[in-house]
Amino acid sequence: MTNLSGKSVLLIIGGGIAAYKSLELIRLLRGKGCAVNAIMTRAAEEFVTPLSVACLTGRKVHNALFNLTDEIEMGHIELSRSADLLVVAPATADLLAKMATGQADDLASTALLATDKAVVVAPAMNVRMWTHAATQRNVETLRRDAIQIVGPNEGEMACGEFGPGRMAEPIEIAAAIEAALTPAVLPLSGKKVLITAGPTREPIDPVRFISNHSSGKQGYALAEAAVAMGAETVLVSGPVNLPLPPGAQVMPVESAEQMLKACEGELPCDIAIFAAAVADWRVANAAAEKIKKDNGRIPALAMVENPDILKTIAQRKDKRPAIVVGFAAETERVAEHAREKLARKGCDMIIANDVSATTGVFGGDNNKVHVITPLGAEIWPEMSKRDVARKLMEKLAHELAIRQAKS
Ligand code: PMT
Repeated sequence: MTNLSGKSVLLIIGGGIAAYKSLELIRLLRGKGCAVNAIMTRAAEEFVTPLSVACLTGRKVHNALFNLTDEIEMGHIELSRSADLLVVAPATADLLAKMATGQADDLASTALLATDKAVVVAPAMNVRMWTHAATQRNVETLRRDAIQIVGPNEGEMACGEFGPGRMAEPIEIAAAIEAALTPAVLPLSGKKVLITAGPTREPIDPVRFISNHSSGKQGYALAEAAVAMGAETVLVSGPVNLPLPPGAQVMPVESAEQMLKACEGELPCDIAIFAAAVADWRVANAAAEKIKKDNGRIPALAMVENPDILKTIAQRKDKRPAIVVGFAAETERVAEHAREKLARKGCDMIIANDVSATTGVFGGDNNKVHVITPLGAEIWPEMSKRDVARKLMEKLAHELAIRQAKS
């Protein structure tokens, strides 16, 4: 089995002498279990015949944009969408220019514009055409558009000149296709990350509660970053008004006690990050029915302490996550209070932020954090909560890899 087996490639053959090498490319791809559909430009048919291409692909060759039969069997848009990857070999100067400027005036350029799949191009042309500023500008544009360029190689050219312009060998193009179709190993793939976010609500009666200003933005950004790094991500969320982060498993909760229960139910995990603003106290005698006004008598609310979720998880004897991270919301002496929380709660890292009203951290899009561990502290400049999340997840992935390598 190779990474190509079971895959499907749409090969666009441009008009150049190197077109004969695309026949060998088809043979190589099919030998690795990869299906090939081919589009030939009109110029390509001057160099190789559609019959040769059809014999090697084992499929009909597509060459016309407005072909009634083709459109009924498989529309030109579907042709590029149904492939796992598009490859242009040989990619002529003309095809590169069309791709760079988004032109769609034939089947090949239309398929290239209509795709959202990875595209690999193997340029082949005269050396002066390749080195011309216009071609180089186009290639630069394509690189910026995340198009992968293989070659061209240097050597003697069919026109007798010497230099870069020869199409990469089919074996090199097949290797580039295979690499493009091999999923990248993400730093947290195979790892489980648990994140809490948002406020908790502690009921006074069925219609009233105690809560705080947390919007959930920092915790949701962490969940997004964990998903992007390949982690199985569980987000235990208090009530917030944010879109759910795609790819994360979201567990909605209301109170601190529910949050603790949900977190414990998600153990074991590799990393746990507690970004929720959990109410420290709840009403001991929350009323079952709405509390009525009573001739000016103010109801007495007895308070009891909520369980400390971070501390409970960080100090577990069994199923303690390899890395436990707390946040600290402070309004003065930020680093000092955060260091004290790190020691008292027994976590591995505290991310301290100043939530004084003037900073706008509660509910805002930016954050300025102190990253505190038993070994020292870093102060990160103010940045978006998304950037804090990305930077923190990268740091934690690195730390996890070191810890797991040592154990
Ligand atoms: O939600 P946003 O608007 O984006 O704002 C982000 C934020 C300010 C809420 C976030 O960055 C943050 O600081 N979260 C922690 C808020 C908080 O409760 O801080 P604390 O210092 O009171 O608690 C310290 C740590 O203990 C926190 O990790 C907290 O989740 C945890 N804790 C606290 C009390 C409790 N009963 N259980 C806990 O687990």
